Amino acid sequence: MEAELARELAELGATEVAPGASGVEFSGDLAMAWKVNLWSRLAIRVLWQVDQGSYRDEDDLYRAAHRLPWSDWFAVDRTIAIRTVAHISPLKSLNFATLRIKDAVCDRFREDLELRPNVDARSPQIPILLYLDRDAYTLYLDLSGEPLNRRGYRVEPSPAPLNENLAAGLLRLSGWAPEQPLLDPMMGGGTILLEAAMIALNMAPGLKRHFAFENLIGFDKVEWTRLRKDAEAAQGEKRALPIYGCDIDPNMVRAAGLNLKEAGLLDCVTLREGNVMEIPAPAAAGFIVSNPPYGVRLDADATFYADLGSAMKQHFSGWSAYFISADPEFPKHMRLAASRRIPLHNGPLDCRLYEYKLVAGTMRKQADQQTTV
Ligand SMILES: C[S@@+](CC[C@H](N)C(=O)[O-])C[C@H]1O[C@@H](n2cnc3c(N)ncnc32)[C@H](O)[C@@H]1O
Repeated sequence: MEAELARELAELGATEVAPGASGVEFSGDLAMAWKVNLWSRLAIRVLWQVDQGSYRDEDDLYRAAHRLPWSDWFAVDRTIAIRTVAHISPLKSLNFATLRIKDAVCDRFREDLELRPNVDARSPQIPILLYLDRDAYTLYLDLSGEPLNRRGYRVEPSPAPLNENLAAGLLRLSGWAPEQPLLDPMMGGGTILLEAAMIALNMAPGLKRHFAFENLIGFDKVEWTRLRKDAEAAQGEKRALPIYGCDIDPNMVRAAGLNLKEAGLLDCVTLREGNVMEIPAPAAAGFIVSNPPYGVRLDADATFYADLGSAMKQHFSGWSAYFISADPEFPKHMRLAASRRIPLHNGPLDCRLYEYKLVAGTMRKQADQQTTV
């Protein structure tokens, strides 16, 4: 999803955007970072890199963190927490590295102000991230705090919900545009529908929450209020949208409804209880974006996917369907030729997003078929 996130960041006005293996770097002033926090649908957090260098042991990390002017960035009465993430590291104990960074920050404060910040491991006002590679460290101030995918609308639990940022990414990858009909026929808690409705109404995903950057010195409340007001003004009028959701489980229809209600979007989306194998298409053409259930029982999955393939063929010609699945057998059992397979991660799961262009006529996968069926 890094390439798609890079495109989103460039659209928001970030410069020097460079996708990497597990994140995207960009340049800009702090107001740009606030804007990304407010508007990005795909990012999970925005990190401000404050130092980088090489290290061999925990003492090197202590010295590096001790050199930094922490009290220029936040007041001593703010709570801190250090999180360490290591790709490959020669250190025996990451806990000890974390402790050394905490000591360095507190010692530096004590030397500068004769006071030290307290630690709040659960909800720090200033989250600090130490990232370790084989011989390089990077220190970041986490400007987001709570991950950005926590939009605040998920009030009803559903089994195996998609991350909100992944749902928004799937919509971007599908090429769906807001005026086109969209259906998630196995919607669960309705994450894909919620993200789609927010995109269609140009709702900034971060409008309802607070961010860690509000706790930094130099936070300009006037400028931040202006950015939020601009976002409120840019929001489209709430209206019925061509966005449709369905689930066979009445509890999920209820859950999706409650989540949509929490987001103020219940009247914008049409929900129904139904079986994906039987429901008619709600429009002559459109986009299906969905994550079908998987991993119940292999033979049950095989039959389910084969039936899903048939239902697509019978009821949705003219539509483009996008299914995310971690099951490598999914495309075989669907028995339709996927025109694209995009590798993605859903948390720790290796997934693919499969694209099916559903046109009238023969849909069965054949040995000599090309990319489009
Ligand atoms: C992996 S979950 C979807 C999660 C959802 N994307 C979310 O973010 O909450 C799959 C959903 O498919 C639904 N489902 C299973 N079989 C179905 C069928 N035959 N027709 C419609 N929905 C079905 C399940 O009830 C479940 O809610």
